[in-house]
Amino acid sequence: MRILLGVGGGIAAYKSAELARLLMEQEHTVQAVMTAAAQKFITPLTFAALTGRKTLTDLFAIEAAIEHISVAQEHDLLVVAPATADLIGQLANGLAGDFLTTLYLAFTGPVVLAPAMNVNMWQHPATQANLETLRRRGHRVVDPGSGYLACGMTGPGRLADPETIAAAIAQELRRRTDLEGETVLVTAGPTEEPLDPVRFISNRSSGKMGYALAEAAAARGARVILVSGPVHLAAPRNVELIQVRTALEMRNRVMERLPDAGIVVKAAAVADFHLSKVPDQKVKKTAARVSMELDPTPDILAEIGRKKGDRLLVGFAAETQNLIQEGRRKLESKNCDMLVANLVGGSEVGFESDQNEVVLLLRTGESIPLARAPKREIADRIFDEVLKLRLALHAEHGR
Ligand code: C5P
Repeated sequence: MRILLGVGGGIAAYKSAELARLLMEQEHTVQAVMTAAAQKFITPLTFAALTGRKTLTDLFAIEAAIEHISVAQEHDLLVVAPATADLIGQLANGLAGDFLTTLYLAFTGPVVLAPAMNVNMWQHPATQANLETLRRRGHRVVDPGSGYLACGMTGPGRLADPETIAAAIAQELRRRTDLEGETVLVTAGPTEEPLDPVRFISNRSSGKMGYALAEAAAARGARVILVSGPVHLAAPRNVELIQVRTALEMRNRVMERLPDAGIVVKAAAVADFHLSKVPDQKVKKTAARVSMELDPTPDILAEIGRKKGDRLLVGFAAETQNLIQEGRRKLESKNCDMLVANLVGGSEVGFESDQNEVVLLLRTGESIPLARAPKREIADRIFDEVLKLRLALHAEHGR
């Protein structure tokens, strides 16, 4: 594959020469791009000698006028190692003052960032906020290791090993195309069930998990249909967005599109009850108590489970207690291949958060706990396991 290696200006820049060598050994083509600060630590010649290509450094060189665009288009992945605090800030905010940062904006493929800096700089809220922005954008951050730092302090901040960075690159390269040819149907968000023309019942789902799943699937090459309840999120790129309001509308639109889909991920928090006959006029305020009889909504996941065919079906279960037992019960009763069990209520993860912590329950009996991570990373891990399940099922059928 063709890899762009961005080198930032930190003492760890010398280690990125080792990364260049390792990537060359793995038979990648490597194009190094250095910032001005990086050249204070190590010379462009080092990378040119290792990669067999001229190192790119100057945005304003005559031949560079258009080069950052063509270079961006010609490569499969951009890795920045070391990613300094300054570079991370520039990338997070879209500043484009030199070749590397301009190239980053012109690049549409996967991005891997390997930060390295002093421990206080790493822990600074500004650095962490910028990294959160980059993670949410779908970029892979290879966390620094802990240990002795060049500044004399000890703690997190050391550039990850070249092998660890190369392994993350290999995984991101696989994820670039591993859903090509698939159609993934994702549902997201809450539903709103009207009580009268102005009132409704709903729930605390933000839709962030479902949108992260849709984004991840699209970035991995899938055709994505996202059926979404009302949320305050921007439509993901390269995704067909179908907006609905009620559980019944969601059911109808999902069933219409089901024949197209090979993988269905039901992340929506669908209302379980609704008022089947909604009054035409606003219910008047009276002193008397009002009571309403609610009927169950259609269980979309269970219906898909009954009509599953050879689709892969992933359900979600948000529980406030007995997470695993409830999750396993739903996995079975709704005929899912995977159930993403998610403890909600009172925690810092789950419904409205950008982070999540879940357990993947598989039809094979396996349980995979996923540590707390941004929803976009959780989404990628879910698709990694979905693809493994697909391979296992093919092998089973092939026998
Ligand atoms: O049974 P419970 O609602 O907890 O199951 C959650 C799973 O079922 C989620 O995947 C959700 O999208 C789906 N569901 C559904 N239709 C409903 C209720 C839940 O598809 N009416």
